[in-house]
Amino acid sequence: MPIITTVEDLRRIYARRVPRMFYDYCESGSWTEQTFRDNVSDFADIRLRQRVAVDMEGRSTATKMIGQDVAMPVALAPVGLTGMQSADGEIKAARAAEKFGVPFTLSTMSICSIEDVAAHTTKPFWFQLYVMRDEEFVAGILQRAKDAGCSALVLTLDLQILGQRHRDVKNGLSAPPKLTLPTLMNLSTKWGWGLEMLGTKRRQFGNIVGHAKGVSDVSSLSDWTAEQFDPRLDWDKVRRLKEQWGGKLILKGILDAEDARRAADVGADAIIVSNHGGRQLDGALSSIRALPSIVRAVGDRVEIHVDGGIRTGQDVLKALALGAKGTYIGRAFVYGLGAMGEAGVTKVLEVMHKELDTTMALCGRKSVDSLDRDILLVPEDFE
Ligand code: FNR
Repeated sequence: MPIITTVEDLRRIYARRVPRMFYDYCESGSWTEQTFRDNVSDFADIRLRQRVAVDMEGRSTATKMIGQDVAMPVALAPVGLTGMQSADGEIKAARAAEKFGVPFTLSTMSICSIEDVAAHTTKPFWFQLYVMRDEEFVAGILQRAKDAGCSALVLTLDLQILGQRHRDVKNGLSAPPKLTLPTLMNLSTKWGWGLEMLGTKRRQFGNIVGHAKGVSDVSSLSDWTAEQFDPRLDWDKVRRLKEQWGGKLILKGILDAEDARRAADVGADAIIVSNHGGRQLDGALSSIRALPSIVRAVGDRVEIHVDGGIRTGQDVLKALALGAKGTYIGRAFVYGLGAMGEAGVTKVLEVMHKELDTTMALCGRKSVDSLDRDILLVPEDFE
């Protein structure tokens, strides 16, 4: 086993271990992938101010996100098909997050169900909802999330119309994946992955199969998925869902200050500045560039989180210094999971924690809550 010191090391192992179609599903953006690339590269444009001779004894990355204690403000983002990257992937990622002390968010489009994850963890996790046309299904899944003790609802607002990733179309990837000859050939080259998958006993797409009208097995899922994302989602509906849920609410997919004001008007507990990891509107601003104007618009009214392009603890520090109270990682944790299962997700969290802690100290700060723009050198054209 090679010595792993970065998240990028894990990405390389992941790329070798998992079938190409699942790697591509993760490591791609919509259309030209401009926003997907910008999400990462715009972080590199921000430089740090080195400070010296500041006592750094007793520093800490611990803080709170929506009032909940976190060992560092880095949550695992909702990622669909996580259980295809590693058998029982959602359970493995949730367990790694819980042991580390950071939130895990389960996607509507997960392989393991809410109940599967709840049965294998001891602390509450967060549940992410895609709003579907079938209101009975939505009411049912919210109830299931409440029954499982989920402590926040992450409501995704930027995927009522599906963006297109060319690589997925070319690979024939759908939910569920279709087993065509090229797909089977591709899968059969990855023995380790295949053997591991054979061992899983979970019901696939357990949040939906057996719970949505007309979806009794995985083969009936793809038609349902294609027609169910509800394009009529509007702010009234968001308000109704907030009432229906009744608990902590995080609105995900805000990229514009005007929308951020609306989200604050709704009374959300937090918003996630996000472009869905560059998987929806190609050409949209990177998340880190969008963040400052949103902080100016609503920073005093709602807690602001951000995701998109975060691959290192330095990226986390930059986001916090620009006014975010919390961050999320999507692809970064999938790299670890696909490379080494639960231990890989733990490794990602350890690497990022060390990077965050060391960078914070070398910038002369002792706590994540004390990070501000003063430690950054931001390009003039940044916002
Ligand atoms: C996602 N994302 C996502 N978001 C969501 O609300 N529900 C979902 O089911 C998914 N599924 C999903 C699958 C994959 C493979 C990826 C990469 C992303 C978006 C995700 O929550 C998050 O916004 C981005 O992943 C953040 O960008 P980075 O960290 O991946 O650069």
